[in-house]
Amino acid sequence: MSKTQSTSEQTPSGELRNTGTLEVKDSRTDKSYSIQILQGGVEGDTAARAMDFRQIKTSPDEFGLMTYDPAFMNTASCKSAITFIDGDKGILRYRGYPIEQLAEKATFLEVAWLLRHGELPSQSEYDQWVHDVTFHTYVHENIKTFLQGFRYDAHPMSMLCSAVAALSSFYPEAKAIHDPEQRNISIVRLLAKMPTLAAFCYRHIKGLPFIYPDNSLSYTENFLSMVARMSEPKYEANPVFVKALEILFILHADHEQNCSTSAVRAVGSSQVDPFSAVAAGVAALYGPLHGGANEQVLRMIGEIGHPKNVAGFIDEVKGGKGARLMGFGHRVYKSYDPRAKIVKALADEVFKQVGMDKDLEIALKLEEAALNDEYFISRKLYPNVDFYTGLIYRSMAFPTDFFTVLFAVARAAGWLAQWEEMLNDKEQKIARPRQIYVGYGERPYTSKLTTRFPSTSKDALRK
Ligand code: ACO
Repeated sequence: MSKTQSTSEQTPSGELRNTGTLEVKDSRTDKSYSIQILQGGVEGDTAARAMDFRQIKTSPDEFGLMTYDPAFMNTASCKSAITFIDGDKGILRYRGYPIEQLAEKATFLEVAWLLRHGELPSQSEYDQWVHDVTFHTYVHENIKTFLQGFRYDAHPMSMLCSAVAALSSFYPEAKAIHDPEQRNISIVRLLAKMPTLAAFCYRHIKGLPFIYPDNSLSYTENFLSMVARMSEPKYEANPVFVKALEILFILHADHEQNCSTSAVRAVGSSQVDPFSAVAAGVAALYGPLHGGANEQVLRMIGEIGHPKNVAGFIDEVKGGKGARLMGFGHRVYKSYDPRAKIVKALADEVFKQVGMDKDLEIALKLEEAALNDEYFISRKLYPNVDFYTGLIYRSMAFPTDFFTVLFAVARAAGWLAQWEEMLNDKEQKIARPRQIYVGYGERPYTSKLTTRFPSTSKDALRK
Protein backbone atom coordinates (compact mmCIF):
# COMPACT_ATOMS: atom_id res chain seq x y z
CA MET A 1 0.00 0.00 0.00
CA SER A 2 1.44 3.41 -0.95
CA LYS A 3 1.75 6.26 1.57
CA THR A 4 -1.03 8.22 -0.06
CA GLN A 5 -3.44 5.30 0.10
CA SER A 6 -6.10 5.37 2.78
CA THR A 7 -6.79 2.50 5.18
CA SER A 8 -10.19 0.85 5.55
CA GLU A 9 -10.85 2.84 8.77
CA GLN A 10 -10.43 6.23 7.08
CA THR A 11 -13.35 7.92 5.40
CA PRO A 12 -12.71 7.58 1.68
CA SER A 13 -12.16 10.90 -0.09
CA GLY A 14 -14.31 9.92 -3.04
CA GLU A 15 -11.70 11.39 -5.37
CA LEU A 16 -9.50 9.71 -7.94
CA ARG A 17 -5.79 10.13 -7.48
CA ASN A 18 -2.95 10.17 -9.94
CA THR A 19 -0.90 7.03 -9.70
CA GLY A 20 1.28 7.14 -12.81
CA THR A 21 1.28 7.85 -16.52
CA LEU A 22 0.74 5.83 -19.61
CA GLU A 23 3.07 6.76 -22.48
CA VAL A 24 1.27 6.34 -25.79
CA LYS A 25 2.86 6.62 -29.21
CA ASP A 26 0.68 7.15 -32.29
CA SER A 27 2.27 5.24 -35.17
CA ARG A 28 0.34 7.41 -37.66
CA THR A 29 2.09 10.63 -36.59
CA ASP A 30 5.03 9.38 -34.49
CA LYS A 31 3.76 11.72 -31.75
CA SER A 32 3.85 10.64 -28.09
CA TYR A 33 1.29 11.43 -25.40
CA SER A 34 1.25 11.07 -21.62
CA ILE A 35 -2.06 9.80 -20.28
CA GLN A 36 -2.68 9.96 -16.52
CA ILE A 37 -3.45 6.73 -14.71
CA LEU A 38 -6.03 7.27 -11.97
CA GLN A 39 -6.95 5.13 -8.99
CA GLY A 40 -9.95 5.02 -6.68
CA GLY A 41 -10.13 4.46 -2.89
CA VAL A 42 -8.68 1.78 -0.65
CA GLU A 43 -9.00 -1.07 -3.13
CA GLY A 44 -10.00 0.96 -6.17
CA ASP A 45 -9.26 -0.10 -9.71
CA THR A 46 -7.11 1.93 -12.08
CA ALA A 47 -8.35 3.70 -15.19
CA ALA A 48 -7.42 6.33 -17.73
CA ARG A 49 -9.86 9.07 -18.67
CA ALA A 50 -11.32 8.28 -22.09
CA MET A 51 -11.40 12.05 -22.79
CA ASP A 52 -7.58 12.16 -22.44
CA PHE A 53 -7.39 10.13 -25.66
CA ARG A 54 -9.34 12.78 -27.59
CA GLN A 55 -6.14 14.84 -28.00
CA ILE A 56 -4.70 12.03 -30.13
CA LYS A 57 -5.40 12.96 -33.75
CA THR A 58 -3.69 13.12 -37.12
CA SER A 59 -4.87 16.65 -37.99
CA PRO A 60 -6.41 19.54 -35.99
CA ASP A 61 -9.83 19.16 -37.66
CA GLU A 62 -10.09 15.45 -36.83
CA PHE A 63 -12.46 14.53 -33.98
CA GLY A 64 -9.77 12.64 -32.03
CA LEU A 65 -9.35 9.12 -30.74
CA MET A 66 -12.29 7.51 -28.95
CA THR A 67 -12.34 4.28 -26.97
CA TYR A 68 -14.54 1.50 -28.37
CA ASP A 69 -16.22 -0.70 -25.77
CA PRO A 70 -19.47 -2.41 -26.79
CA ALA A 71 -21.39 -3.61 -23.70
CA PHE A 72 -19.06 -1.56 -21.44
CA MET A 73 -16.80 -4.56 -20.86
CA ASN A 74 -13.96 -2.34 -19.66
CA THR A 75 -15.41 1.11 -19.12
CA ALA A 76 -16.00 2.74 -15.74
CA SER A 77 -19.02 4.99 -16.28
CA CYS A 78 -18.75 6.64 -12.85
CA LYS A 79 -16.96 6.81 -9.53
CA SER A 80 -19.00 5.19 -6.80
CA ALA A 81 -18.54 4.67 -3.06
CA ILE A 82 -21.57 2.41 -2.65
CA THR A 83 -20.74 -1.18 -3.56
CA PHE A 84 -17.43 -2.98 -3.89
CA ILE A 85 -17.09 -6.23 -5.83
CA ASP A 86 -14.00 -8.33 -6.38
CA GLY A 87 -15.27 -10.76 -8.96
CA ASP A 88 -12.22 -13.03 -8.86
CA LYS A 89 -12.25 -13.43 -5.11
CA GLY A 90 -16.07 -13.53 -4.81
CA ILE A 91 -16.25 -10.46 -2.53
CA LEU A 92 -19.30 -8.18 -2.26
CA ARG A 93 -19.50 -5.29 0.22
CA TYR A 94 -22.00 -2.47 0.67
CA ARG A 95 -20.23 0.68 1.88
CA GLY A 96 -17.38 -1.52 3.13
CA TYR A 97 -19.55 -3.99 5.07
CA PRO A 98 -19.31 -7.64 3.88
CA ILE A 99 -22.59 -8.89 2.41
CA GLU A 100 -22.40 -12.01 4.62
CA GLN A 101 -22.48 -9.86 7.81
CA LEU A 102 -25.28 -7.64 6.55
CA ALA A 103 -27.38 -10.62 5.45
CA GLU A 104 -26.96 -12.24 8.86
CA LYS A 105 -27.42 -9.23 11.13
CA ALA A 106 -29.02 -6.22 9.42
CA THR A 107 -32.57 -5.40 8.32
CA PHE A 108 -33.43 -4.47 4.74
CA LEU A 109 -34.39 -0.91 5.66
CA GLU A 110 -31.15 -0.51 7.62
CA VAL A 111 -29.26 -1.60 4.48
CA ALA A 112 -31.33 0.75 2.31
CA TRP A 113 -30.30 3.62 4.63
CA LEU A 114 -26.66 2.47 4.57
CA LEU A 115 -26.58 2.34 0.76
CA ARG A 116 -27.97 5.84 0.51
CA HIS A 117 -26.14 7.59 3.34
CA GLY A 118 -22.86 5.70 3.46
CA GLU A 119 -23.04 4.94 7.19
CA LEU A 120 -25.20 2.68 9.32
CA PRO A 121 -28.14 4.59 10.86
CA SER A 122 -28.21 5.57 14.53
CA GLN A 123 -31.27 4.33 16.45
CA SER A 124 -33.08 7.68 16.05
CA GLU A 125 -32.23 7.88 12.32
CA TYR A 126 -33.43 4.32 11.85
CA ASP A 127 -36.67 4.90 13.76
CA GLN A 128 -37.48 7.98 11.69
CA TRP A 129 -36.58 6.19 8.43
CA VAL A 130 -38.74 3.15 9.23
CA HIS A 131 -41.58 5.49 10.24
CA ASP A 132 -41.31 7.51 7.02
CA VAL A 133 -41.16 4.47 4.74
CA THR A 134 -44.01 2.77 6.62
CA PHE A 135 -46.30 5.79 6.39
CA HIS A 136 -45.89 6.26 2.64
CA THR A 137 -46.91 2.75 1.64
CA TYR A 138 -50.38 3.72 0.39
CA VAL A 139 -50.83 4.51 -3.29
CA HIS A 140 -53.43 6.79 -4.88
CA GLU A 141 -56.70 4.94 -5.55
CA ASN A 142 -56.32 5.68 -9.28
CA ILE A 143 -53.28 3.40 -9.33
CA LYS A 144 -55.65 0.55 -8.47
CA THR A 145 -57.89 1.45 -11.39
CA PHE A 146 -54.83 1.74 -13.61
CA LEU A 147 -53.59 -1.76 -12.63
CA GLN A 148 -57.06 -3.23 -13.11
CA GLY A 149 -56.79 -2.17 -16.77
CA PHE A 150 -54.19 -4.88 -17.39
CA ARG A 151 -55.27 -8.27 -18.74
CA TYR A 152 -55.45 -11.17 -16.29
CA ASP A 153 -52.34 -12.76 -17.83
CA ALA A 154 -50.19 -9.62 -17.98
CA HIS A 155 -46.61 -10.20 -16.87
CA PRO A 156 -46.24 -8.59 -13.44
CA MET A 157 -42.95 -6.95 -14.50
CA SER A 158 -44.79 -5.11 -17.32
CA MET A 159 -47.37 -4.03 -14.75
CA LEU A 160 -44.76 -2.95 -12.20
CA CYS A 161 -42.72 -1.04 -14.77
CA SER A 162 -45.81 0.83 -15.97
CA ALA A 163 -47.07 1.49 -12.42
CA VAL A 164 -43.73 2.94 -11.28
CA ALA A 165 -43.66 5.17 -14.37
CA ALA A 166 -47.27 6.17 -13.70
CA LEU A 167 -46.36 7.30 -10.16
CA SER A 168 -44.36 10.09 -11.77
CA SER A 169 -47.64 11.68 -12.88
CA PHE A 170 -48.97 11.61 -9.29
CA TYR A 171 -45.94 13.48 -7.92
CA PRO A 172 -45.07 16.25 -10.40
CA GLU A 173 -43.03 17.96 -7.65
CA ALA A 174 -40.55 15.04 -7.92
CA LYS A 175 -39.12 16.83 -10.97
CA ALA A 176 -37.28 19.16 -8.57
CA ILE A 177 -34.41 16.70 -8.33
CA HIS A 178 -31.91 19.32 -7.15
CA ASP A 179 -34.00 20.07 -4.06
CA PRO A 180 -32.75 17.67 -1.32
CA GLU A 181 -36.18 17.65 0.37
CA GLN A 182 -37.95 16.63 -2.81
CA ARG A 183 -35.30 14.00 -3.46
CA ASN A 184 -35.77 12.63 0.02
CA ILE A 185 -39.55 12.36 -0.17
CA SER A 186 -39.36 10.77 -3.64
CA ILE A 187 -36.88 8.17 -2.35
CA VAL A 188 -39.08 7.45 0.68
CA ARG A 189 -42.17 7.18 -1.54
CA LEU A 190 -40.52 4.85 -4.00
CA LEU A 191 -39.16 2.50 -1.34
CA ALA A 192 -42.48 2.57 0.49
CA LYS A 193 -44.70 2.03 -2.54
CA MET A 194 -42.69 -0.61 -4.43
CA PRO A 195 -43.99 -3.46 -2.19
CA THR A 196 -47.55 -2.12 -2.48
CA LEU A 197 -47.34 -1.95 -6.29
CA ALA A 198 -45.70 -5.38 -6.44
CA ALA A 199 -48.37 -6.93 -4.22
CA PHE A 200 -51.18 -5.26 -6.22
CA CYS A 201 -49.70 -6.75 -9.42
CA TYR A 202 -49.74 -10.18 -7.76
CA ARG A 203 -53.33 -9.82 -6.58
CA HIS A 204 -54.44 -8.68 -10.04
CA ILE A 205 -52.99 -11.68 -11.87
CA LYS A 206 -54.47 -13.97 -9.23
CA GLY A 207 -57.89 -12.28 -9.54
CA LEU A 208 -57.86 -11.41 -5.84
CA PRO A 209 -58.93 -8.15 -4.21
CA PHE A 210 -56.13 -5.72 -3.40
CA ILE A 211 -55.04 -5.68 0.24
CA TYR A 212 -54.11 -2.30 1.69
CA PRO A 213 -50.85 -1.85 3.61
CA ASP A 214 -50.86 -2.57 7.33
CA ASN A 215 -48.63 0.04 8.94
CA SER A 216 -48.28 -1.96 12.15
CA LEU A 217 -46.19 -4.57 10.33
CA SER A 218 -42.51 -4.57 9.31
CA TYR A 219 -41.52 -3.91 5.68
CA THR A 220 -41.36 -7.60 4.70
CA GLU A 221 -44.29 -8.70 6.89
CA ASN A 222 -46.45 -5.99 5.38
CA PHE A 223 -45.44 -7.08 1.89
CA LEU A 224 -46.34 -10.70 2.64
CA SER A 225 -49.62 -9.52 4.15
CA MET A 226 -50.53 -7.56 1.00
CA VAL A 227 -49.65 -10.62 -1.11
CA ALA A 228 -51.23 -13.43 0.88
CA ARG A 229 -53.89 -12.10 3.27
CA MET A 230 -57.39 -13.42 2.73
CA SER A 231 -60.25 -12.94 5.20
CA GLU A 232 -58.23 -13.01 8.42
CA PRO A 233 -58.43 -9.69 10.33
CA LYS A 234 -54.68 -9.68 11.01
CA TYR A 235 -52.18 -11.46 8.80
CA GLU A 236 -49.47 -13.43 10.55
CA ALA A 237 -46.63 -14.28 8.23
CA ASN A 238 -44.53 -17.43 8.59
CA PRO A 239 -41.42 -16.13 10.45
CA VAL A 240 -39.14 -18.32 8.31
CA PHE A 241 -40.51 -16.64 5.17
CA VAL A 242 -40.16 -13.19 6.73
CA LYS A 243 -36.52 -13.85 7.60
CA ALA A 244 -35.81 -15.42 4.18
CA LEU A 245 -37.36 -12.50 2.31
CA GLU A 246 -35.48 -9.97 4.45
CA ILE A 247 -32.18 -11.72 3.59
CA LEU A 248 -33.05 -12.02 -0.11
CA PHE A 249 -33.95 -8.31 -0.20
CA ILE A 250 -30.58 -7.44 1.38
CA LEU A 251 -28.69 -9.64 -1.11
CA HIS A 252 -30.46 -8.01 -4.05
CA ALA A 253 -30.33 -4.43 -2.79
CA ASP A 254 -27.37 -3.28 -4.88
CA HIS A 255 -24.76 -4.63 -7.24
CA GLU A 256 -22.89 -1.55 -8.50
CA GLN A 257 -23.07 -0.74 -12.24
CA ASN A 258 -25.17 -3.65 -13.53
CA CYS A 259 -27.53 -3.30 -16.50
CA SER A 260 -30.56 -1.93 -14.58
CA THR A 261 -28.53 0.42 -12.37
CA SER A 262 -26.76 1.76 -15.44
CA ALA A 263 -30.20 2.26 -16.99
CA VAL A 264 -31.38 4.23 -13.93
CA ARG A 265 -28.24 6.36 -13.98
CA ALA A 266 -28.40 6.93 -17.76
CA VAL A 267 -32.09 7.87 -17.76
CA GLY A 268 -31.70 9.86 -14.52
CA SER A 269 -28.81 11.78 -16.07
CA SER A 270 -31.35 13.51 -18.33
CA GLN A 271 -32.63 15.01 -15.03
CA VAL A 272 -35.99 13.31 -15.31
CA ASP A 273 -37.81 12.56 -12.02
CA PRO A 274 -36.74 9.43 -10.07
CA PHE A 275 -40.03 7.57 -10.70
CA SER A 276 -39.32 7.62 -14.44
CA ALA A 277 -35.65 6.71 -13.93
CA VAL A 278 -36.54 3.76 -11.67
CA ALA A 279 -39.14 2.58 -14.21
CA ALA A 280 -36.23 2.30 -16.68
CA GLY A 281 -34.43 0.16 -14.11
CA VAL A 282 -37.45 -2.13 -13.79
CA ALA A 283 -37.55 -2.50 -17.58
CA ALA A 284 -33.86 -3.44 -17.73
CA LEU A 285 -34.24 -5.89 -14.86
CA TYR A 286 -37.07 -7.67 -16.69
CA GLY A 287 -34.64 -9.07 -19.31
CA PRO A 288 -33.76 -12.81 -19.10
CA LEU A 289 -30.03 -12.11 -19.00
CA HIS A 290 -30.47 -9.91 -15.92
CA GLY A 291 -33.19 -10.13 -13.24
CA GLY A 292 -35.35 -12.36 -15.41
CA ALA A 293 -32.79 -15.16 -14.99
CA ASN A 294 -34.31 -16.48 -11.73
CA GLU A 295 -37.55 -17.07 -13.63
CA GLN A 296 -35.64 -18.75 -16.46
CA VAL A 297 -33.85 -21.07 -14.00
CA LEU A 298 -37.18 -22.52 -12.90
CA ARG A 299 -38.43 -22.84 -16.47
CA MET A 300 -35.17 -24.58 -17.41
CA ILE A 301 -35.48 -26.99 -14.48
CA GLY A 302 -39.10 -27.64 -15.50
CA GLU A 303 -37.96 -28.51 -19.02
CA ILE A 304 -35.21 -30.82 -17.75
CA GLY A 305 -37.97 -32.52 -15.78
CA HIS A 306 -35.94 -35.28 -14.07
CA PRO A 307 -32.44 -35.64 -12.58
CA LYS A 308 -31.66 -38.34 -15.16
CA ASN A 309 -31.93 -35.71 -17.92
CA VAL A 310 -29.30 -33.39 -16.41
CA ALA A 311 -26.31 -34.89 -18.27
CA GLY A 312 -28.13 -34.55 -21.61
CA PHE A 313 -29.02 -30.95 -20.88
CA ILE A 314 -25.42 -30.09 -19.96
CA ASP A 315 -24.30 -31.61 -23.28
CA GLU A 316 -26.87 -29.49 -25.08
CA VAL A 317 -25.53 -26.33 -23.40
CA LYS A 318 -21.98 -27.28 -24.34
CA GLY A 319 -23.10 -27.97 -27.91
CA GLY A 320 -23.27 -24.20 -28.36
CA LYS A 321 -26.68 -24.18 -30.03
CA GLY A 322 -27.85 -21.28 -27.91
CA ALA A 323 -29.02 -23.07 -24.74
CA ARG A 324 -27.46 -21.58 -21.61
CA LEU A 325 -27.31 -22.90 -18.11
CA MET A 326 -29.48 -20.18 -16.58
CA GLY A 327 -28.34 -18.99 -13.16
CA PHE A 328 -24.73 -19.66 -14.10
CA GLY A 329 -22.07 -17.17 -15.16
CA HIS A 330 -21.68 -13.51 -14.39
CA ARG A 331 -20.03 -10.53 -16.01
CA VAL A 332 -18.01 -9.72 -12.90
CA TYR A 333 -17.90 -12.87 -10.77
CA LYS A 334 -15.39 -15.30 -12.12
CA SER A 335 -15.75 -17.43 -8.98
CA TYR A 336 -18.73 -18.48 -6.82
CA ASP A 337 -21.08 -15.48 -6.45
CA PRO A 338 -20.97 -14.74 -2.66
CA ARG A 339 -24.73 -14.14 -2.71
CA ALA A 340 -25.30 -17.61 -4.22
CA LYS A 341 -23.54 -19.20 -1.21
CA ILE A 342 -25.86 -17.40 1.20
CA VAL A 343 -28.93 -18.23 -0.90
CA LYS A 344 -28.00 -21.92 -1.02
CA ALA A 345 -27.74 -22.06 2.78
CA LEU A 346 -31.01 -20.14 3.05
CA ALA A 347 -32.71 -22.62 0.70
CA ASP A 348 -31.70 -25.44 3.04
CA GLU A 349 -33.31 -23.60 5.98
CA VAL A 350 -36.54 -22.85 4.12
CA PHE A 351 -36.84 -26.40 2.79
CA LYS A 352 -36.36 -27.77 6.32
CA GLN A 353 -39.55 -25.90 7.23
CA VAL A 354 -41.69 -26.40 4.16
CA GLY A 355 -40.31 -29.67 2.83
CA MET A 356 -37.96 -30.39 -0.06
CA ASP A 357 -38.76 -28.70 -3.33
CA LYS A 358 -39.23 -31.38 -5.96
CA ASP A 359 -36.87 -29.59 -8.35
CA LEU A 360 -34.09 -29.00 -5.84
CA GLU A 361 -32.61 -32.38 -6.70
CA ILE A 362 -32.34 -31.34 -10.35
CA ALA A 363 -30.77 -28.01 -9.33
CA LEU A 364 -28.21 -29.73 -7.08
CA LYS A 365 -27.34 -32.20 -9.84
CA LEU A 366 -27.01 -29.41 -12.39
CA GLU A 367 -24.72 -27.48 -10.10
CA GLU A 368 -22.56 -30.51 -9.38
CA ALA A 369 -22.34 -31.46 -13.06
CA ALA A 370 -21.39 -27.94 -14.14
CA LEU A 371 -18.85 -27.37 -11.37
CA ASN A 372 -17.04 -30.52 -12.46
CA ASP A 373 -17.22 -29.95 -16.19
CA GLU A 374 -14.27 -28.54 -18.12
CA TYR A 375 -16.56 -26.32 -20.27
CA PHE A 376 -17.80 -24.41 -17.21
CA ILE A 377 -14.49 -24.56 -15.30
CA SER A 378 -12.46 -23.12 -18.18
CA ARG A 379 -14.96 -20.27 -18.66
CA LYS A 380 -15.14 -19.62 -14.92
CA LEU A 381 -18.90 -20.16 -14.89
CA TYR A 382 -20.25 -20.55 -11.34
CA PRO A 383 -23.76 -20.30 -9.89
CA ASN A 384 -24.95 -16.71 -9.59
CA VAL A 385 -27.52 -15.28 -7.14
CA ASP A 386 -30.40 -16.38 -9.35
CA PHE A 387 -29.64 -20.09 -9.35
CA TYR A 388 -31.32 -20.88 -6.03
CA THR A 389 -33.52 -17.83 -5.39
CA GLY A 390 -36.30 -19.11 -7.66
CA LEU A 391 -36.51 -22.38 -5.72
CA ILE A 392 -36.95 -20.46 -2.46
CA TYR A 393 -39.54 -18.13 -3.95
CA ARG A 394 -41.49 -21.05 -5.29
CA SER A 395 -41.45 -22.86 -1.98
CA MET A 396 -43.00 -19.68 -0.56
CA ALA A 397 -45.75 -20.13 -3.21
CA PHE A 398 -44.80 -17.14 -5.38
CA PRO A 399 -45.60 -17.78 -9.05
CA THR A 400 -42.60 -17.99 -11.38
CA ASP A 401 -43.62 -14.81 -13.24
CA PHE A 402 -43.36 -12.92 -9.99
CA PHE A 403 -39.73 -13.68 -9.08
CA THR A 404 -38.22 -10.70 -10.88
CA VAL A 405 -40.74 -8.40 -9.21
CA LEU A 406 -39.31 -9.46 -5.84
CA PHE A 407 -35.86 -8.62 -7.15
CA ALA A 408 -37.07 -5.18 -8.29
CA VAL A 409 -38.57 -4.35 -4.87
CA ALA A 410 -35.17 -4.96 -3.27
CA ARG A 411 -33.05 -3.37 -6.01
CA ALA A 412 -35.01 -0.10 -5.74
CA ALA A 413 -32.83 0.64 -2.67
CA GLY A 414 -29.67 0.41 -4.78
CA TRP A 415 -31.13 2.23 -7.79
CA LEU A 416 -32.10 5.19 -5.62
CA ALA A 417 -28.75 5.34 -3.79
CA GLN A 418 -26.95 5.23 -7.13
CA TRP A 419 -29.30 7.80 -8.67
CA GLU A 420 -28.65 10.26 -5.84
CA GLU A 421 -24.89 9.63 -5.93
CA MET A 422 -24.97 10.40 -9.66
CA LEU A 423 -26.85 13.67 -9.08
CA ASN A 424 -24.33 14.76 -6.45
CA ASP A 425 -21.34 13.91 -8.65
CA LYS A 426 -20.13 17.18 -10.21
CA GLU A 427 -18.41 15.27 -13.03
CA GLN A 428 -21.64 13.67 -14.26
CA LYS A 429 -23.53 15.08 -17.24
CA ILE A 430 -26.25 13.68 -19.43
CA ALA A 431 -25.14 10.18 -20.47
CA ARG A 432 -24.47 10.25 -24.16
CA PRO A 433 -22.13 7.61 -25.59
CA ARG A 434 -20.35 8.04 -28.90
CA GLN A 435 -20.48 5.61 -31.79
CA ILE A 436 -18.16 4.55 -34.56
CA TYR A 437 -20.19 5.10 -37.70
CA VAL A 438 -19.82 2.16 -40.11
CA GLY A 439 -22.65 2.96 -42.56
CA TYR A 440 -22.79 4.49 -46.07
CA GLY A 441 -21.10 7.73 -47.02
CA GLU A 442 -23.31 10.49 -48.47
CA ARG A 443 -25.60 9.34 -51.33
CA PRO A 444 -28.41 11.06 -53.19
CA TYR A 445 -32.05 10.27 -52.42
CA THR A 446 -33.75 8.28 -55.22
CA SER A 447 -37.15 6.96 -54.21
CA LYS A 448 -38.02 3.30 -54.82
CA LEU A 449 -41.76 3.95 -54.20
CA THR A 450 -44.38 4.09 -56.92
CA THR A 451 -46.97 5.71 -54.62
CA ARG A 452 -46.63 7.56 -51.31
CA PHE A 453 -50.16 6.81 -50.10
CA PRO A 454 -50.90 3.06 -50.42
CA SER A 455 -54.54 2.08 -49.99
CA THR A 456 -55.38 0.80 -46.49
CA SER A 457 -58.86 -0.43 -47.38
CA LYS A 458 -59.87 -3.97 -46.32
CA ASP A 459 -59.31 -5.24 -49.86
CA ALA A 460 -55.79 -3.90 -49.94
CA LEU A 461 -55.03 -5.50 -46.56
CA ARG A 462 -56.32 -8.88 -47.79
CA LYS A 463 -53.99 -8.93 -50.78
N1 ACO B 1 -24.26 -21.27 -19.85
C1 ACO B 1 -23.41 -21.73 -20.80
N2 ACO B 1 -22.40 -21.01 -21.31
C2 ACO B 1 -22.24 -19.77 -20.83
C3 ACO B 1 -23.06 -19.23 -19.83
C4 ACO B 1 -24.10 -20.04 -19.33
N3 ACO B 1 -24.92 -19.61 -18.39
N4 ACO B 1 -22.66 -17.98 -19.54
C5 ACO B 1 -21.61 -17.74 -20.34
N5 ACO B 1 -21.35 -18.82 -21.12
C6 ACO B 1 -20.24 -18.98 -22.04
C7 ACO B 1 -20.48 -18.18 -23.31
O1 ACO B 1 -21.14 -18.95 -24.30
C8 ACO B 1 -19.06 -17.83 -23.69
O2 ACO B 1 -18.46 -18.98 -24.26
P1 ACO B 1 -17.43 -18.84 -25.50
O3 ACO B 1 -16.23 -18.16 -24.90
O4 ACO B 1 -17.18 -20.23 -25.93
O5 ACO B 1 -18.11 -17.99 -26.53
C9 ACO B 1 -18.37 -17.59 -22.37
O6 ACO B 1 -19.09 -18.40 -21.44
C10 ACO B 1 -18.39 -16.15 -21.92
O7 ACO B 1 -19.76 -15.71 -21.91
P2 ACO B 1 -20.24 -14.24 -22.20
O8 ACO B 1 -21.63 -14.29 -22.73
O9 ACO B 1 -19.20 -13.54 -23.02
O10 ACO B 1 -20.19 -13.62 -20.75
P3 ACO B 1 -20.88 -12.27 -20.33
O11 ACO B 1 -20.05 -11.72 -19.25
O12 ACO B 1 -21.14 -11.40 -21.51
O13 ACO B 1 -22.31 -12.76 -19.81
C11 ACO B 1 -24.07 -13.44 -18.44
C12 ACO B 1 -22.68 -12.81 -18.49
C13 ACO B 1 -25.03 -12.64 -19.34
C14 ACO B 1 -24.61 -13.38 -17.02
C15 ACO B 1 -23.98 -14.91 -18.93
O14 ACO B 1 -23.10 -15.64 -18.11
C16 ACO B 1 -25.35 -15.60 -19.00
O15 ACO B 1 -26.03 -15.46 -20.01
N6 ACO B 1 -25.75 -16.34 -17.93
C17 ACO B 1 -27.06 -16.95 -17.88
C18 ACO B 1 -28.10 -15.90 -17.51
C19 ACO B 1 -28.03 -15.53 -16.05
O16 ACO B 1 -27.97 -16.40 -15.16
N7 ACO B 1 -28.09 -14.23 -15.79
C20 ACO B 1 -28.15 -13.70 -14.41
C21 ACO B 1 -26.91 -12.92 -14.12
S1 ACO B 1 -26.92 -12.39 -12.42
C22 ACO B 1 -27.98 -11.08 -12.45
O17 ACO B 1 -28.16 -10.38 -13.41
C23 ACO B 1 -28.64 -10.78 -11.18
